[in-house]
Amino acid sequence: MTTMSDPSTGADALAGLVAGFPFPFPEDRYRYSTNVEPAQTPVTTAAGRWGAAVVDIDSEYRDELDRRAMILAADPTRHAVLPHMVPAAWDAMLTLMRELDETYPEQMRLRPTGADTWLWRNEILGIEQRFRYGDPATLPEEPLRYITSQIQEDIALLDQRNDQLYVDAGVVTFAADWSFGFDVGMSFLEIHGPVPRVRQEGVITRAHEFLKRLQPHQPYRRTNWTLTIDRRLDVSTEIYHEWGPDRETIQRVSDDEFGRRVHLRVEVQHLIRLPDSGAVMFLIRTYMLPLEQLASVEVWRRRTAEVLAELPGDMADYKGIIKFRDRAAQWLRGAAPVPTTTPGP
Ligand code: HEM
Repeated sequence: MTTMSDPSTGADALAGLVAGFPFPFPEDRYRYSTNVEPAQTPVTTAAGRWGAAVVDIDSEYRDELDRRAMILAADPTRHAVLPHMVPAAWDAMLTLMRELDETYPEQMRLRPTGADTWLWRNEILGIEQRFRYGDPATLPEEPLRYITSQIQEDIALLDQRNDQLYVDAGVVTFAADWSFGFDVGMSFLEIHGPVPRVRQEGVITRAHEFLKRLQPHQPYRRTNWTLTIDRRLDVSTEIYHEWGPDRETIQRVSDDEFGRRVHLRVEVQHLIRLPDSGAVMFLIRTYMLPLEQLASVEVWRRRTAEVLAELPGDMADYKGIIKFRDRAAQWLRGAAPVPTTTPGP
């Protein structure tokens, strides 16, 4: 079983966030690739471990769920289920409840109570819910919204038809510089249209072929990353006016403030073929660590500095970090531990 740290924002919680951080760089140089690997394979890092489970609950659980609820209340376009995706939404909910039950057996329980009826318990949030699979009258909310009120992951569901995948449902409140409301109904290939390099290099067409062949019960995962100013999960295009200007002002802050506010943001993305509906479920779990914490792990400090300094301009531009990535690289280089001098004879 995966353990959860105390949901406080104290030193323990911070240590837990460092230990569970999915550091994304296997090398000193980063390029786009079809970087998929089987899920549920734990990865040991210089600071700890991540990746044992598909759904991950950490010390930020309540805080992030509260944040998601506020975002959904303020902007209903972050949630959409096109009519043909209703069965996929139920399939996603039950699949995730099974994952939670398996990963957190002490806190999360799913029990069958009849042919189509279930009892769901989430002890962390004090929830007990009986429901009939497929019957919306037995749940307080639409199933995708219901389950995203109990997991930190964002969800997109893709329908496969005419040899293409379409993003036709989801709850996405923590998008990194894109808009779910704008993208809903678009194909996988259209959505990736603006990403530089990937067309020429065949990254997205290979990913598309891979996803179309994905089988149930064989989940895969990949990581993606960027830099975000402050611990701000919601950097969606819709509210660019709230966070976009920080990319300018961050250039003028003191070094201390820079290290505290600039975060390495990593998404662990799971790709799962749902067993009943045949839809593809795309889970996006966002982790963030300020540079000052990242620098506390020497191999992370050194490698991230190399990656940021070497990243080609078009990729840095697309990620929205072109204006401050050089300073981030310098900041990390400057945070090198002071060499201890051995006293002479
Ligand atoms: C962005 C690859 C699956 C939605 C990107 C980027 C890459 C990529 C390289 C650019 C990221 C960056 O520079 O930070 C892949 C691969 C996948 C995959 C290899 C599967 C193996 C998906 C799926 C969705 C998705 C299933 C469904 C929603 C997006 C979106 C963006 C993106 C919305 C941002 C596009 C924008 O800026 O407008 N992806 N992706 N990706 N991807 Fe994927």
